[in-house]
Amino acid sequence: MISRDTIEEIRNRLDIVDVISDFVSLKKAGQNYKALSPFANEKTPSFFVVPAKGIFKDFSSGKGGDAITFVMEHEKMSYSESLRYLAKKYGVEIKEDKQSDESKAALSEREGLYILMNFAKDYYHTQLLTSEEGMSIGLSYFRERGFNDRTIGKFELGYALNGWENFSEEAVAKGYNKELLEKTGLTVKKEEGTEKERSYDRFRGRVIFPVHNISGKVIAFGARMLGKEKNQPKYINSPETEIYHKSDVLYGLYQAKNAIRQQDVCYLVEGYTDVISLHQADVENVVSSSGTALTESQIKLIRRFTENITVLFDGDTAGIKAALRGIDMILKGGLNVRVVLFPDGEDPDSYSRKVGTTEFQKFLSDHTQDFVSFKAGLFASQSAGDPIKKAESIKEIVTSIAQIPDPVKRSVYIQETSSLLKIPEEVLLSELNKILIQERRKTQTDNSRDREVPPISDETIPEISEPVKIDAQGMVELQERETIRLLLNYAEKEVDENTLSDFFLRELDDVTLTNPVYRQIYEDFKNGVSKGEIPNSHYFIQHGSEEVKRTVTDLITMRYEPSKHWGDKFKIHFSKEDELVSELALTNVLRLKFRFVQKLMEDNLQKVKQAESSGTWEDLDEALLAQAGLKEAEQGLAKMLGIVIAR
Ligand code: CTP
Ligand code: MN
Repeated sequence: MISRDTIEEIRNRLDIVDVISDFVSLKKAGQNYKALSPFANEKTPSFFVVPAKGIFKDFSSGKGGDAITFVMEHEKMSYSESLRYLAKKYGVEIKEDKQSDESKAALSEREGLYILMNFAKDYYHTQLLTSEEGMSIGLSYFRERGFNDRTIGKFELGYALNGWENFSEEAVAKGYNKELLEKTGLTVKKEEGTEKERSYDRFRGRVIFPVHNISGKVIAFGARMLGKEKNQPKYINSPETEIYHKSDVLYGLYQAKNAIRQQDVCYLVEGYTDVISLHQADVENVVSSSGTALTESQIKLIRRFTENITVLFDGDTAGIKAALRGIDMILKGGLNVRVVLFPDGEDPDSYSRKVGTTEFQKFLSDHTQDFVSFKAGLFASQSAGDPIKKAESIKEIVTSIAQIPDPVKRSVYIQETSSLLKIPEEVLLSELNKILIQERRKTQTDNSRDREVPPISDETIPEISEPVKIDAQGMVELQERETIRLLLNYAEKEVDENTLSDFFLRELDDVTLTNPVYRQIYEDFKNGVSKGEIPNSHYFIQHGSEEVKRTVTDLITMRYEPSKHWGDKFKIHFSKEDELVSELALTNVLRLKFRFVQKLMEDNLQKVKQAESSGTWEDLDEALLAQAGLKEAEQGLAKMLGIVIAR
């Protein structure tokens, strides 16, 4: 615990402009400073620093606070890490509140581990660059793989000499104790307590890849063998220690974090060499899970920087299987996932070296596809002409969609799948709801097992119809979103001998949007038009609330271009969106009304039920009449949309 006095002292000495200037290039604007947001990708500055108040405010991400908050947000440090960083910067001596001896010991042990790992990293790096063996074996190996000096420095690569105790002896000579050496796993002890007890270096005659934590401290090593000796593992890795929990770490994240934030996407690869080769191809937003399956905490780690993950994997069967598992994990974590499949026999490392930087980057952008098209393509090749296989593949896709926590997003994917596979949305939705109900049952039984009460029977599961309802609302909001998107992008395009905005305002006169943000935008739009000016996206980004800004930004940058890959591979071609606007506007209006009617039916059904159980005859009569009217409207709209309703 850092003492109150120390915190006070740090606050007194720091200067917010000076603190932020270490990370952002600020321009003076009157009394204040402004800059491009370091938390979002933007072209006009929306990041402000107000020195008089000691605060910053970032209008694109909504973040704001004092200098300590800034360091926490920007560097992803904890409160106390930020304080320590600032104390160091301003030369404040840190005084800690009294601690129990136990927690003091734990703290200093962790500290000791970090210091020793750092010493080892420097030692291996120096051996690589200056020792004869290091240069002739290690350095020449890296050179052969095409790693240049900058890369070797950036990743602090090293070499462990081929002998039993080179490192351990050096460390002991420098005053590190043997106990600590074993705790880091750098020294291994065998047959402890017997006559044959001996200890030796874990890493011998191998090249070294240090693993950094998010703030750049070395917490582990991976060591690759050089030759092709059999009976030897390709990599030897550090064991789990107090500072290294493999499942919570992503290799390369420290080197990638700024690029991930800037590009707003994180590439995920399999190993050390893939990460490094991508850096050499100027793709720096890349991390690896080090050969193991992706974990929940690794996904959370990425989420601190972006909501978009693109998984890169080899075209072999094992690679595809692993990718499929990873996709569902990522979706479950609430992130967007895309995939890039490499040609058979190539991995990101080999392919980037084969084709070079420009080609490689082009390959990435041309071959990125969302998981639905990826899965559809994968199964299309297996299930051509086989209806049972086709049904299975649909189930596969919908199972992935069911992992997504956000109902609006789920609906987007259902719609996409429907048009891609030519399957009515209703069929997909009912499959989706089945899965959602099953999963809900499963978690309920799991939870109850944790609490050691017997699993509940089917009859007692409450609110089983809720997921259905959630997705009815989701479908409504999805159409509302599409309405707003079309208005923002194509307001002045011609539709039905008029402009699109006139068409919408006329057709939607009787509809009130349910989502408050979309409603707000729609109302502002309407007001603008009645005054004779059509508000464009610029207007909303300047004048809207935080949420309006975010939504509008999303909708005007949505990537609707289907991958070119599709045309090449599956001979499916798409027209450009702006050629289709008129058609899109018409179907959007119909769909919006259709969804809206369905939502009303769901709500009215509750009234029917209530009237049945406790209302008067008049109530019931009225509710049933309303239901019949809605049903008729639903069928009329469905007919116009060419939808067959399975009910
Ligand atoms: N890995 C490991 N232990 C092994 C094999 C692999 O820890 N015995 C991990 C490493 O993190 C490795 C990743 O799994 O980077 C991917 O394995 P692989 O593709 O075999 O290794 P590469 O690093 O790609 O090595 P290379 O390109 O030289 O074959
Ligand atoms: Mn490889």
